[in-house]
Amino acid sequence: MKAEACTYVIYGATGNLSRIKLMPALYHLDVENLLPEGTKIVALGRREWDQQKWQSEVRDMLEVKARNGLDEAVFERFCKRMHYHKGDIKQAESYEALAATINSTEFPQNKAFYLSVSPSDFGSIVQLLSDVGLLNEDAGWSRVVIEKPFGYDLQSAQSLQRCVGKYLREDQIYRIDHYLGKGTVQNLLVFRFANTMLEPLWNRNYIDHIQITHSEEFGIGTRAQYYDTSGATRDMLQSHLLQLMTLVTMEPPASMDAESLRDEKVKVLKSVRPIPKEAVNAHAFRAQYSSGNQNGEKVNGYLQEENVPANSVTETYAALKLYIDNWRWKDVPIYLRTGKRMAKSQSIISICFKQPPLQFFRDTQVKCDTPNWLLMGIQPEECIRMEMTVKEPGLGMSTRLTSLDASYRNENEHLTDAYEDLLLDVMEGDRSLFLRADEVEYAWKIVDPILQKWAEERDYIATYPAGSWGPEGSRRLFDKEKQYWRHSLTPKEDLECK
Ligand code: BG6
Repeated sequence: MKAEACTYVIYGATGNLSRIKLMPALYHLDVENLLPEGTKIVALGRREWDQQKWQSEVRDMLEVKARNGLDEAVFERFCKRMHYHKGDIKQAESYEALAATINSTEFPQNKAFYLSVSPSDFGSIVQLLSDVGLLNEDAGWSRVVIEKPFGYDLQSAQSLQRCVGKYLREDQIYRIDHYLGKGTVQNLLVFRFANTMLEPLWNRNYIDHIQITHSEEFGIGTRAQYYDTSGATRDMLQSHLLQLMTLVTMEPPASMDAESLRDEKVKVLKSVRPIPKEAVNAHAFRAQYSSGNQNGEKVNGYLQEENVPANSVTETYAALKLYIDNWRWKDVPIYLRTGKRMAKSQSIISICFKQPPLQFFRDTQVKCDTPNWLLMGIQPEECIRMEMTVKEPGLGMSTRLTSLDASYRNENEHLTDAYEDLLLDVMEGDRSLFLRADEVEYAWKIVDPILQKWAEERDYIATYPAGSWGPEGSRRLFDKEKQYWRHSLTPKEDLECK
């Protein structure tokens, strides 16, 4: 698939996501000469800005974000692509003016609308775009990019879908989960399906359990308004973590095209054993950070954060145990956990293999009770490591752990941001890294009973000190005494924080 020149219209262009992710990503695509000739970027904002003011705003954004500093020659070319359009996203007249501008011959007739706005505005924006004919595809394609949250629960996700589905075909909708744009996440598919070595082991016969952890040192900052109505389960688990789970556990697809890939992901989500409301406590754990020490600094607890209601029971930590009832994974627990204000910011997937069936080295110092772990560091450290027990050099029969390293990036190869990949995919019409409507719905079906139960139980929520690895109580989710949360990519550190 080849990227085609288009007019990229960014709704909410002056907002945070656009500043820190979208404009830098488009600029970096320009640096790499990946923006097709003639591509235009239209920023839609409410402020009375002219082109010059917008360019100077973008310069400020890029000065902070440009890799290797701002390249003036590329920036000059980038400025020629940019156009600021003043308009109110709620008013029909703005759409007529927008259509008059971008339907002119100066702009490519392929159009991508990136809605970096509140999800409650998605429906009305799509309708207003349709009213002025901007979604019809007579002169070129027309695509709409939306970002999570896709609804608040299953019901609201379905009603959002009905609403946008009135004006857009499924293949015009690009639902972003930015985790799928991360290089290491895509490498997961390559690692699994371009190598045969692990495939025979990738199942219930050899794998004891799987853990997927996303932890953050940061608190909720100034996002209380959004976060307090969302919580960790909606914010991270229903979306990013379940996506990671599908990639780790799915069957090889018929091909790597968007539909085959997404069919396999949906099959995983459909096979997740439903959690009845009465079993929620055995499968899920929620908690809130209390004040504590983070990197030597005293920090507030969640309830002391700006704009958080004093009686809030919104979870800033959520852990979940799931089972996938299919031939490959039946009875293998999958533990997902995420939290704000934890000891370290990182995303890792840890796969714990079963113990050897016999202890051959019983009368020696060889410890066979250390399982093999396969560790995939998504961020900040990107790596794939396999931990093995080996003999220590010397005469005795002692052992140590060593790691086989299959990391994929050399030090001189630069990191790209997930949004670069995803924004380019929209121009290429490649939807494999975007979510399909049914994927979103099945993901909601998994967490809905938990959210419902927690919404009813408003008297108590466990806490964990900021800067810690989360609440002790979450250990009750483990199926076996020997299972424990894997916090680190190196065995030594991991034992220290156990
Ligand atoms: C977002 C969540 O979707 O993902 C944030 O709303 C979270 O709360 C963020 O911090 C994490 O993304 P990343 O790429 O920084 O791991």
